[in-house]
Amino acid sequence: MTSSAVHQPVMLDEALAMLDVKPGGRYLDATVGLGGHAQAVLEASAPDGRLLGLDADPEAIAAAGDRLQPFAGRITLRQCWLDDAPEAGADADMSPLDGILCDLGVSSLQLDTPERGFSLRADGPLDMRLGPSSVASAVTARQIVNDWPVEELADLIYEYGDDRRSRRIARGIARRRPIETTVELADAVVEAVGTRPGARIHPATRVFQAIRLEVNRELDRLAAFLTQARGMLALGGRLVVIAFHSLEDRIVKGFLREQSSGDEPSFRTLTRRVLRPSTAEIQRNPRARSARLRAAEAI
Ligand SMILES: C[S@@+](CC[C@H](N)C(=O)[O-])C[C@H]1O[C@@H](n2cnc3c(N)ncnc32)[C@H](O)[C@@H]1O
Repeated sequence: MTSSAVHQPVMLDEALAMLDVKPGGRYLDATVGLGGHAQAVLEASAPDGRLLGLDADPEAIAAAGDRLQPFAGRITLRQCWLDDAPEAGADADMSPLDGILCDLGVSSLQLDTPERGFSLRADGPLDMRLGPSSVASAVTARQIVNDWPVEELADLIYEYGDDRRSRRIARGIARRRPIETTVELADAVVEAVGTRPGARIHPATRVFQAIRLEVNRELDRLAAFLTQARGMLALGGRLVVIAFHSLEDRIVKGFLREQSSGDEPSFRTLTRRVLRPSTAEIQRNPRARSARLRAAEAI
């Protein structure tokens, strides 16, 4: 099976409905990944809708290019970070936009490639960069894990991993230094805090999340991207964001609340309550289980 066949776009029906895709529309997929959502947007906007797809990861851009080959005349793909979207949109002559989709986090291609260092079960080097060093932050997971003072590591795990056992975990990691691989890191966390019978997630899941967010500065980029979104959208254009944990969702929720109130609101919220995947989707694709979708219309 090819990697693109493995990846199932999350909350696809909900995302398409909220984007209100129309023939001839112009759309930005700011995290195109393996092109699953993008393909559906291109189909729904046939025969002449256009799509600009961005991703920090050159492997994702290559995979999306393969998958979206049938739509070659209607797509532009560009390797860049989320918060470079306005420039990418201007370069591709794609403004104003009718819709922006942002499906955050990592793809199955990244998770299932141990060499990328995202997996706590399949052993790989401690990397976790979404993009190569030329465009990504200079720091790698290996540096954070091995070189950061214990206090700073604990703060990171507390803040970005939402884990109250952060000090114990950080001390446990420091005791096991040098740590070279993802499984060594996961083992160090288990050694520090043990495993809880019946726990839904591996004890190191949140630690990995915290390190990945820091390596790629994902939350800062998301916040910057959101502030740029209105300027890229036409009146009535839609913004749809799929988040995968509460830190991301809190940023989206706060942004939409702020922008849809006051004297001069710039968005009207379309999801008064956050949308979650259906039980059927979670059964079909367990990786969808933590997804949260919010959408708004530019006014
Ligand atoms: C969940 S996947 C997207 C999957 C895609 N919607 C599909 O259906 O195939 C998220 C993608 O966003 C990219 N990404 C995450 N954060 C990013 C950021 N801040 N800037 C650029 N790309 C980012 C990742 O490299 C990954 O390929």
